Amino acid sequence: MVRKIAGRPVVITGAASGIGRSLAIRLSRHGCPVVIADVNAVELEKTAASLSGPALSRVLDVRDAADFGRFASEVREWLDLPLAAVFNNAGVATATSVLDSLPEDDTWLFDINYWGVVNGTRAFLPMLLKQNYGVVVNTSSVYGLVGMPNNSAYCSAKFAVRGFTDSLRQELRGTGVSAATVHPGGIKTNIIRNGRIHRDPEGRGRDLEQIAADFDAIALTTPERAAEVIHRGVEKGKARILVGPDAYVFDALARIAPTRYYSLVARLLERK
Ligand SMILES: NC(=O)c1ccc[n+]([C@@H]2O[C@H](COP(=O)([O-])OP(=O)(O)OC[C@H]3O[C@@H](n4cnc5c(N)ncnc54)[C@H](O)[C@@H]3O)[C@@H](O)[C@H]2O)c1
Repeated sequence: MVRKIAGRPVVITGAASGIGRSLAIRLSRHGCPVVIADVNAVELEKTAASLSGPALSRVLDVRDAADFGRFASEVREWLDLPLAAVFNNAGVATATSVLDSLPEDDTWLFDINYWGVVNGTRAFLPMLLKQNYGVVVNTSSVYGLVGMPNNSAYCSAKFAVRGFTDSLRQELRGTGVSAATVHPGGIKTNIIRNGRIHRDPEGRGRDLEQIAADFDAIALTTPERAAEVIHRGVEKGKARILVGPDAYVFDALARIAPTRYYSLVARLLERK
């Protein structure tokens, strides 16, 4: 199903930073009225100020299902064209071994990365089905394709997003509404700096800034490029959008060596 979204209204969560901000700027430049939401009011306003066309900006915690419902009603009131896409993009990171993990951090992450996506889907799905048009675009990760050490909560939530969105896609067969999953590889954003990382999970004594700098050094893709790949992928009607060359490597490894992929990843990392 080809889904043209340029020129049509879109909703983007997590739009105060990184991929969400770049997506908002790109889609606004492509003529989309853009509805942006984020828990970070200050940075959200900066995104709003950089948009070229009609925009609605709303502070929203994606964990709050009831407020998500109110937000969807406000969006319905604001729109004068059918809603073309809902990007459930907001997300956070932790980094710890299972042994050292804090239950409250795992819950925090799961509530945002998984339940935030479910809340966004449930809030907007009735509107999309009534229109019989539009796409739900849920952000997973390459860590929704493979399990990585020190990322048990993140991988679990991202696998869950993938399962949820795959199920949704099958339910939507025969309707004018579709669902897609986004699997970014490493993208140079604030995800580590915004995360809950209390100590170096690799035991190398790095502080948060050093961990973030190391992440930036291996992240292959800019958020602007990620936004472009996501936009194009949605318009091509892809059900699964891989972002960045590393995403293709992880996807291939998960298929070729479903139980041994990490040995191969570790060897690649050692060579760097
Ligand atoms: N950066 C990467 O390498 C990478 C890789 C794979 C997947 N992802 C995913 O891409 C998405 C975007 O992340 P990013 O890299 O742009 O990170 P980012 O930290 O730059 O942006 C995430 C945004 O989500 C917002 N957010 C956090 N909690 C929220 C909440 N409760 N309610 C509303 N908004 C909230 C933050 O305020 C921030 O503006 C996330 O789902 C992330 O897991 C990122």
